Amino acid sequence: MDSLSETVHWGMMLGFDIQVEDRDGRALVGSQQVMDDLPPSMKRRMQAILHMHAADVEYERYPLYVEGKELGTLLVRPLHRAGPVQVKEDIFKKRGTNFLVISFIIAGAGALGMSVFLSLYLSRPLKILKSAAERVAGGDFSVRVGPPLLRGSQRPRILNDEILRLAESFNYMAEALEKEEALRKRLTSNVAHELRTPLAVMKAHVEAMIDGVIEVREESLENIRAEIEKLTHLVEGIEDLTKAEASFFAGGEYKRINLRDFLASLQGSMRPVFQEKGLQLSLTDGEDLFVVTDVEKLEKILGNIIANALKYTEKGGVRVDYRSDGGEFTIEVKDSGIGIPEEEVPKVFTRFYRGKESPGTGVGIGLAIVKELVAIMGGQISLKSTMGEGSTFTVRLPVKETGRGEGIGEA
Ligand SMILES: Nc1ncnc2c1ncn2[C@@H]1O[C@H](COP(=O)(O)OP(=O)(O)OP(=O)(O)O)[C@@H](O)[C@H]1O
Ligand SMILES: [Mg+2]
Repeated sequence: MDSLSETVHWGMMLGFDIQVEDRDGRALVGSQQVMDDLPPSMKRRMQAILHMHAADVEYERYPLYVEGKELGTLLVRPLHRAGPVQVKEDIFKKRGTNFLVISFIIAGAGALGMSVFLSLYLSRPLKILKSAAERVAGGDFSVRVGPPLLRGSQRPRILNDEILRLAESFNYMAEALEKEEALRKRLTSNVAHELRTPLAVMKAHVEAMIDGVIEVREESLENIRAEIEKLTHLVEGIEDLTKAEASFFAGGEYKRINLRDFLASLQGSMRPVFQEKGLQLSLTDGEDLFVVTDVEKLEKILGNIIANALKYTEKGGVRVDYRSDGGEFTIEVKDSGIGIPEEEVPKVFTRFYRGKESPGTGVGIGLAIVKELVAIMGGQISLKSTMGEGSTFTVRLPVKETGRGEGIGEA
């Protein structure tokens, strides 16, 4: 009986008026009885929720089986909620509906705001990038994506880092292409100009010999050979310059070397040509200095500077110094040569620039290659010169990280 009463109680909590009858139709237990048996406080609470007598529908009847044997009947009908509870339920339903509507409005507004935000801060910069890319594809390399959308005070902070990086990469690409294009144009015109002179000289010589104006003498042939050498030098220089430009994109091969040994071997290989001219090539007797650097480029840089020092020095000699400077290392090449006039100093690194009074042959490409290579390696080059006393070229280069702490250091 206890568990039956409990079942009826739970049934009431779920909103049902329940009666249980035995096989002969006698009432065993019912909702009203369970309600009457409740402690007074609980009974009051139940009555506040349920209208026991307001249930006006007929009972549904369900036979009760225990172990396959029919023991009685369960009569069930829904109870009515009491008045105040009904009102509360209505209010709750209304609030629920309002809540849902408001939620939808907020979500909708959020989505709208988000899409405006995205279109302003994401798709607009992307559109700008797209049209810039189209212009580059059309051959206009001067285009850059920039303020006010991607930089400066108006630049939106959020979401924007990736786009900013993309824009920077784009600008870098456009700059590289522009540089390449400018180089191509300049080289074509400069090279044509540089080729014309030696070719004209050779042509004149050969024609004069054919016409019998001048004899075919060793001296004339020497002249032609000198012009051919000049041309060969020019072609090699252009090759070096093109290679330097190409390695701007490809990157070089960095190795850990002892700068002292490296410079000593460079000095050893160049000393004979200095001796031939009666000049000295000396190297500071310094300590071991380990650096990580692009050896091939460093060789080209110093080779060109030292070759100039040799070419433009008549007495005395050339001295090479090296030292470590924090994360950088410095190499200095000091000659006691003819010097460079003050107004020419800023020009000597320009392609095909030759000093007005410069002796010897040359096309003016050596220092342009040097400047290019130093820049690619992330370094700097400076020049100090006094007419009649000599020039000093100073190259400062960073020590590339190896990831094993093998930077600069003395052994
Ligand atoms: N050590 C130096 N002393 C005096 N003048 C120099 C020195 N180095 C360079 N110059 C001046 O700078 C100019 C440019 O040098 P750069 O090496 O680029 O060309 P170049 O030596 O004339 O020709 P190239 O190197 O192509 O054979 C030279 O023509 C010369 O006037
Ligand atoms: Mg030179």
